[in-house]
Amino acid sequence: MPSSLHDFCLWVEKTNLSMFVKTNEWVVPTLQTIHILCVAIIMSSIVMITLRIVGLIGKDESVQAFAARFLPWIWYTIPALAIGGLLQISAEPERSLMNKIFQLKMVLLVAAMGGTIFLGRKISASAAAAAGDAVAPAVNQVQVRLIGVAVFVLWIAIIVAGRWIAYAVGL
Ligand code: HEM
Repeated sequence: MPSSLHDFCLWVEKTNLSMFVKTNEWVVPTLQTIHILCVAIIMSSIVMITLRIVGLIGKDESVQAFAARFLPWIWYTIPALAIGGLLQISAEPERSLMNKIFQLKMVLLVAAMGGTIFLGRKISASAAAAAGDAVAPAVNQVQVRLIGVAVFVLWIAIIVAGRWIAYAVGL
């Protein structure tokens, strides 16, 4: 049983899965391509929602309609990112798991996911209040915009961290 993160990495490196990913040259480029396509889906969705929240596009549709259309794409795509990312890690576990930038990326991911859930709830509450729901709490629109922009910045920070990992090997 591995007793530390380093031991765990050594253990992962010896698994059949790690051997498979390492010894088949097409696997890592395929996983990286899928990772980038998933990033594109997430960022397209978050850009559309953010632009609508700040009022730059789609003013003939409600913010809630935008969120209902684009938020699910984020939740569908994260499992694919996680599976593909973990498979990449299996090839060289120390490169990622022991890397401070990778660890930062995971913290940012949790924050971005939490922020996105919070944003979705604020948008729903705002729509309920606008529709005259007496029990719905009043929602400050400036607050929704600020949360939207903060969540967008968090997703961008994940991309920066993802790219940075390669230049921070050994950190
Ligand atoms: C869900 C868990 C995730 C895991 C386990 C994961 C894992 C990884 C790994 C292992 C790499 C390769 C790093 C390297 O060795 O250079 C990588 C790269 C990258 N990741 Fe993720 N990732 C995840 C989610 C995300 C998300 C949500 C985003 C952005 C929205 C993202 C954006 C990127 C980017 C931009 C790269 C650089 C790709 C390249 O340079 O080819 N990742 N990720």
